[in-house]
Amino acid sequence: MPETRLSQNLRYGSNAGQPLTRRDGILKVTGRATYAADNHPEGMLYAVCAVSTIARGRVTHLDVEAARAHPHVVKVITSDNRPPLAGDPDGKEGLFAFRLEALQNDRVRYAGQPIALVVAETLEAATEGAALLKPRYEVEPTRLGLDVGRFVPEAVGVGSPASIAHGDVEAELSAAPLGIDATYETPPQYHNAMEPHAVVASWDDDRLTLDTPNQAPHMARAAYAGFFGVSPENVLIRTPFIGGGFGSKAILAGPHVLAALAARMTGRPVKLALTRSQMFGPVGHRAQTRQRLRLGMETSGRLTAIDHHAIAATSSFDEFIEPSAGVSCMLYASPAIAVRHEAARNDIGTPGPVRAPGLASGSAALEAAIDEAAQACGMDPLDFRLANYAEVEPITGKPWSSKALRECYVRGATEFGWSGRPRAPRRMRDDDGFLVGWGMGTAVFHCPMFAAEARIIVHGDGGATVETSAIDMGQGALTALAQIAADSLGLDVERVTLRFGASDLPDGGVAGGSGHTATAGSAIDAAGKAVVARLAELATADSDSPLFGAGNVGVVARGGRLIRKDDERRGESYPDILARAGRVEIDGWGKGARDPAAVGDHALQAHGAVFAEVKVDPDLGQVRVTRLVGAFAAGRIINPRLVKSQLYGGMIWGVSFALHEAASVDRLSGRVMNADLGEYHVPVNADVPSLEALLIHEDDAYVNGLGVKGVGEIGITGTVGAVANAVWHATGTRIRKFPVRIEDTVAASVA
Ligand code: MOS
Repeated sequence: MPETRLSQNLRYGSNAGQPLTRRDGILKVTGRATYAADNHPEGMLYAVCAVSTIARGRVTHLDVEAARAHPHVVKVITSDNRPPLAGDPDGKEGLFAFRLEALQNDRVRYAGQPIALVVAETLEAATEGAALLKPRYEVEPTRLGLDVGRFVPEAVGVGSPASIAHGDVEAELSAAPLGIDATYETPPQYHNAMEPHAVVASWDDDRLTLDTPNQAPHMARAAYAGFFGVSPENVLIRTPFIGGGFGSKAILAGPHVLAALAARMTGRPVKLALTRSQMFGPVGHRAQTRQRLRLGMETSGRLTAIDHHAIAATSSFDEFIEPSAGVSCMLYASPAIAVRHEAARNDIGTPGPVRAPGLASGSAALEAAIDEAAQACGMDPLDFRLANYAEVEPITGKPWSSKALRECYVRGATEFGWSGRPRAPRRMRDDDGFLVGWGMGTAVFHCPMFAAEARIIVHGDGGATVETSAIDMGQGALTALAQIAADSLGLDVERVTLRFGASDLPDGGVAGGSGHTATAGSAIDAAGKAVVARLAELATADSDSPLFGAGNVGVVARGGRLIRKDDERRGESYPDILARAGRVEIDGWGKGARDPAAVGDHALQAHGAVFAEVKVDPDLGQVRVTRLVGAFAAGRIINPRLVKSQLYGGMIWGVSFALHEAASVDRLSGRVMNADLGEYHVPVNADVPSLEALLIHEDDAYVNGLGVKGVGEIGITGTVGAVANAVWHATGTRIRKFPVRIEDTVAASVA
């Protein structure tokens, strides 16, 4: 019936839910999408960082004269001649979340730290100038590893508690008839976005313009303004395209500040692009962890205790502590749960958020431990998880806003063919004699929202422009946000244009925490509703309009028209409404943020279940993931094509975490020995298995008005454990050190 259709349109519209292709796709495949380093303003100079080759000590000498004397070198900036900054790079209060290295002194606190900046007319001259500096050092011994400089942090992640205790975990552990006690290790990992960090900076008096990839343009604008003592309105950040961010591009680091400083000192635009190897140091990484899990179980398979103790490496000068153990408060019901974090001060760059902070490394350990617990109870891993399903949030007892995890388990298992799985390991071989193993893991992520606002203009031709600083780092935000705008405006998505990715647009918030679509989308939805309400005001007050007297509540936006709810045939197009009112356009603003009143007492999480098949060469120990099936429930799905793409990306990173990625750090020099994409392994196409991501329907009336939870990070979380558990199922040996490497599986498989 018309009424039903209308109300469905009101709630869901007709654009959201469509698997549209990326708006930016053609620009990207034809090379017309401009990334930061593609900019070459008139008169631009090139800057190159010189970085330390030791991890701890002092720079005692730099051959500045040699660098300066090199043809076409314009400026050499060191801690000796660096002018003061208005904001303190050592400060952590106020605008800046991280301490950073901007040549404030001669201290070296990690290998790869910027120790000078050479600015020249050409990239070659700047590179040669940096090489001529030939630094000498006073070297102090490098402190590395999880057993040095240990301390208990005040908080982990971004303000999460370092320890949580519920029930008497020690008593439950000693009373439990069954239990496991296992320690897992995860290595340092680096974001390694396709596009390295880059800044093109220009000053015009006190106005600073920066072309630089950034996940949070307004936050960055405030940070730059603080460092240079100018008002935020005087800083313009343009970030129309970002070649991957993963958390690294949400936070300013030393090189960013130095590039802007070099432009100010030389009076000319300056470009600084980090080399691939310089990405391993100043711009964050996923911290190394060691995690001990002790689980207690009844013989029925019911969990009675979860104790998760995580140690994470951090730098000597700042405290980003990977919040790995927090996952143990999120997934399984247990009368006693204890979560503790410690940190170890190392001579390394400060770690930071990397896609699925805490939960990627934490769930790798927890999901492997759960598999071990199921084995100890003689249970199928899926049955074990179902037996310990958290019907309410563990510890708090809060009801879930929505939780279709059970459906994820069932649909994923069915699609994968899990029911045929032998419980014991080493029972399956393929035709070539390879050992075959099946494993599973539970995926989980938070549903944070930040704060955003948006402006929408409806034009006299009936089209609309959305203004937001929201950014697209490859995840597809622009397309999804256009779909949300189109629905709130009652327009076809083709009529919606986005102005985005610059700090002089309304604050689109942070593209991080899997919360961008929810946050910027809510602001856009509200802005669309606001402008529609203004159109309705104009029309319903005009005695010449077919909508006259219908009142605001009596009309609905559809097909570029406002129509009466009581009579669909009576309506008026946006161009007609504007023309009659003598206006060329009309605008509306909206805000997006979490509404605690709407959430009420509900716990908010997205969930999923990932099933993996691996094949292990019994002679060579080589592991290949051959199949991955994930089923995810993350609230309303705005664009299933792009959401699947996000989930595939996360799942591939999960394969990478499980089998490929690790920074190898030299214990003496503290240098990352594989600081390039030749030796820092990430999956290539041949490593990527057949992938399936099933989207499980979930209506959520509490998380936000759109019902969107977010999908950017969850794909990694279940996958790492699923692959590790499949390796056990194939080989019969538990390998508790990530990534699982041939040297570990050789011993396991040659039995
Ligand atoms: Mo993310 S690690 O919130 O970009």
